Amino acid sequence: MMTRISRRDLMKRAGITAAAVAALGLLNACGGTREHPAATAGGRSVSPASSMASLPVPGTSGLLGILDATKFDIPLTATTVAQTILPGKTAELAVYKATVGDRVFLNPIFRIPRGETFATTLTNSLGAPTNLHWHGLQVEWHMDGHPSATLPNGNAFRYSFTVQNRGGMYWYHPHPDGLTAQQTYSGLAGLFIVEDDDELSLRRALDLTLGVTDIPLVIQDKRFASNGRLAYSLQPMDQMMGFLGDTPLVNLAPTPTLTVQTRLYRFRALNGSNARTYRLAFVRGNDRLPYTLIGTDGGLLARPVPTRDVFLSPGERADLLLDLRTASVGDAITLQSLAFDPMENEMGMGSGMMGNQGSMGNMTSSAVPNGQALTLMKIAVTSQVTYDRAVPTQLSTVTPIATTGIASRAITLGQGMPGMQWLINGMTYQAGVTPITVKRGTTEVWNVRNAAASMPHPMHIHGFSFQVLERVNSPQQVAALAVDGQGRLVTDLGWKDTVLVWPGETVRIALDFTHPFAGEQRYVFHCHILEHEDNGMMLNFTVA
Ligand code: C2O
Ligand code: CU
Ligand code: CU
Repeated sequence: MMTRISRRDLMKRAGITAAAVAALGLLNACGGTREHPAATAGGRSVSPASSMASLPVPGTSGLLGILDATKFDIPLTATTVAQTILPGKTAELAVYKATVGDRVFLNPIFRIPRGETFATTLTNSLGAPTNLHWHGLQVEWHMDGHPSATLPNGNAFRYSFTVQNRGGMYWYHPHPDGLTAQQTYSGLAGLFIVEDDDELSLRRALDLTLGVTDIPLVIQDKRFASNGRLAYSLQPMDQMMGFLGDTPLVNLAPTPTLTVQTRLYRFRALNGSNARTYRLAFVRGNDRLPYTLIGTDGGLLARPVPTRDVFLSPGERADLLLDLRTASVGDAITLQSLAFDPMENEMGMGSGMMGNQGSMGNMTSSAVPNGQALTLMKIAVTSQVTYDRAVPTQLSTVTPIATTGIASRAITLGQGMPGMQWLINGMTYQAGVTPITVKRGTTEVWNVRNAAASMPHPMHIHGFSFQVLERVNSPQQVAALAVDGQGRLVTDLGWKDTVLVWPGETVRIALDFTHPFAGEQRYVFHCHILEHEDNGMMLNFTVA
C-alpha cells in the first residue's frame, strides 16, 4: 500500500530530481499536484543545488564499482580524472582506475572471499611518488605500503597477498611518507570487502544486496575553489589540527539523497576524511532514530547492539542496520553528524586565547569546525514493501584475547613544545628508527594515554587488529556513551584497527602479534589524522 502523495511534494521533501524519480519508476501511480510546504530535512545543507544529488551506490563499473577480485590480477593506475562533484562544476580528482574488459572502474570496491589470493599491479601516473596501503588487512610488510616503500612516478609494482582477515570492510589508500594526506584528500581511497561464512549468512538472513540494500558510505569532507576544484592548502593551524573541509561528501557527492523502501538497510560507513570526526545519527524531524551496530573495523560483532549515535574518527568503519519497516512513504530521514565538543581547546596554549565557547573557529582555516553539526545524507522513503526478516542474535564469534598476566606497554600521545608537533612516546617518525620491537606470537596490552593538553587522536596500527579492553578518564561526552563497566563504547566491542583517544583519556588495547609471515615484519603505528601522520605522529615497529 502506498500513501497518496504528490510527485512534486515528494520530490520537494526528498530533494530528489524528477529524473531520479522517473528512473526509479516508483511514482508513476501517483497523480495530483496538491501543494504542501516542503518538509525540511534539518541540519545544514551545502547549497540548494547540492541537495539534488542522488547517492552514488556501487554498481558493476564506474566510481565505486564492485570488482570481484578472486584469482584475478587487477591492473590499477593511480591517475587523475575530471569528475563532477559540485553540480555543474568539474574537479580534478585523483583516483585508482582499473580497466577490466570494457568496464572502467574508479576507486573500485574489491570484493574477495577470505582465504583467496588478491593481486593488483599499481602503475603510478600521479607525477609524485606513491604506494598502496591495505588499511586493516594483515599483509606481509613488503606488500603493506610502508611509508618508506614508495613507487616513483611512471613505475609499477605488483601487490599480492592472501586475504587473512575476517569478513568485513577494509580500505586502501596511499601511504608515502609526507604525502599521504594530500594524496588521500585528492581522491585516492577505495574499499576492500572481505567475505566469510558469517558475512554470507548475515546477508542471506537479512536479504541484503551490496549496492542496493547493503550500502557502503565513504564519508569525507572537502573544500572547493570557486571553479569547483578541490582545494588543499595547509595553514600552520591546519598542520597542527588537521585539515578540515567545509563540504561533507558521501561517496563523493555533496549531501546526496538515497531513496529507500520500508525495510531494513545496512550501511557500512568509512570515515575517509583527513581529520574530521563524525557523530553519526539518523534523524527524522526532532527524533533520533534507533539503529543497530553490527560491525566495526575488523568485521561483525558477536551480537548486534542497539545505539543512537556513534563517534567515527578518521580511518574507522561502522557497520549499521537501520530498520525502516515502520517508516512511511514520504518520510524524510537524514544521516547527520551531531554536534559535539571537538576538544581541540586542550592545547595548553592558554584557554584565554580560545575563549570558552567550545567553538574553535579559530583553530582551523575551515568554515566548518570539527564537532559542528552536519547533514551528511538524505534518506527518502518512497515505497512500501513487506519485509519480515529478523536480525540474527548471533552474528559472529569474537574471542577475547587472553590478557591475564601479560606485559603492558606505555604509549603516550602529546606535544613536545605546545603548538609545535604531535609526538608518540616523545618521538616522531624517522624512517630508519624502530622504537618499538615486539616478539612474534606474543600478546601485549598497550596503554595508550593521551595528554590532557591535547586533542583527540585516532590511533591506527598496521598489520594487526586489536581489541579495546578499557577506557579510563574519558571526557564526559564519551563516558556518557559507555556501555559497560570498562567504559567502552559500542564501537569498542568488536575487532579494531583504529581507535580514537580523547584528551586526558587512556585506552587500553590488547594485541596478538601472531602472524604467518617469514622473517621480521616492519609496520607503523600512527595517528590517522593524516596531517599528523605526515608530520611524524607515527612510529615504526617490528615484529621479529
Ligand atoms: Cu589508513 Cu597507515 O593507514
Ligand atoms: Cu592502515
Ligand atoms: Cu593526531
